[in-house]
Amino acid sequence: MEEKRKVKRDEVNPMGYYESEHTKNVRDWKEVFDFLIKDPTFLPASPELEDDEMRTLSNQWPENPPQFREVCQEYAREVEKLGYKLLELIALSLALPSNRFNGYFEDQLSRMRLNHYPPCPCPELALGVGRHKDAGALTIVAQDDVGGLQVKRKSDGVWVPVKPTPNALVINVGDIIQVWSNEAYESVEHRVVVNSERERFSIPIFFFPSHYVMVKPLEELVNEGNPPKYKPYNFGKFNVARNRSNYKKLEVQNIQISDFKII
Ligand code: OGA
Ligand code: NI
Repeated sequence: MEEKRKVKRDEVNPMGYYESEHTKNVRDWKEVFDFLIKDPTFLPASPELEDDEMRTLSNQWPENPPQFREVCQEYAREVEKLGYKLLELIALSLALPSNRFNGYFEDQLSRMRLNHYPPCPCPELALGVGRHKDAGALTIVAQDDVGGLQVKRKSDGVWVPVKPTPNALVINVGDIIQVWSNEAYESVEHRVVVNSERERFSIPIFFFPSHYVMVKPLEELVNEGNPPKYKPYNFGKFNVARNRSNYKKLEVQNIQISDFKII
């Protein structure tokens, strides 16, 4: 606990240790450690569109355990390669050049998270992570053998467990792929349930583009018959707005891609 306290995140720096994240304004039953794949990187200072002040975002590493930093970074480097490979395959599947998405990640805001879900005395009253869709392009998740991740099946709204498979990773399509592909791909709604007996660990890497990327349906994929379904939005501003609402329990609904939907 002492080591964790030394690298605690705050409202300004969202990297480091945190034990009271909120998803959609409800506190999650978990503790997390977050770090950037690219350190340092830059983010708008505030969500207000008129404000063009920038802030440097950087990691906080604990001194103990001593190998922690190196092990985390090595894992992140390998999963990053896999992320680019998957983005290339998604581009090809949309009849785009394989490197179509690469430019968006030059100053990527991607981050890795260590999730720890402690046993919960009343698991029916809490969630490890409340229902949500990941805001990035892709998420690659490693999970232990405990289980708890569930995805919502679109046809009937039933929560389906994603059973842990040894040595396998879970890949989530995030909101940005949904927007870029003009809904050829859809991001998946998911949540994490907790249990009263066993703690659970999971390690997602969230692939986030650069702060200056304006996220919108790709021009090659829209035409008169298939007009864009979203207005462009700035990813940095979106990310800052989301970080703030996850830090504090706010009264208002946090920012969603549906806010940019063209109806
Ligand atoms: C998340 C998430 C899933 C898991 O952190 O966004 O959905 O299995 N985690 O921990
Ligand atoms: Ni998620």
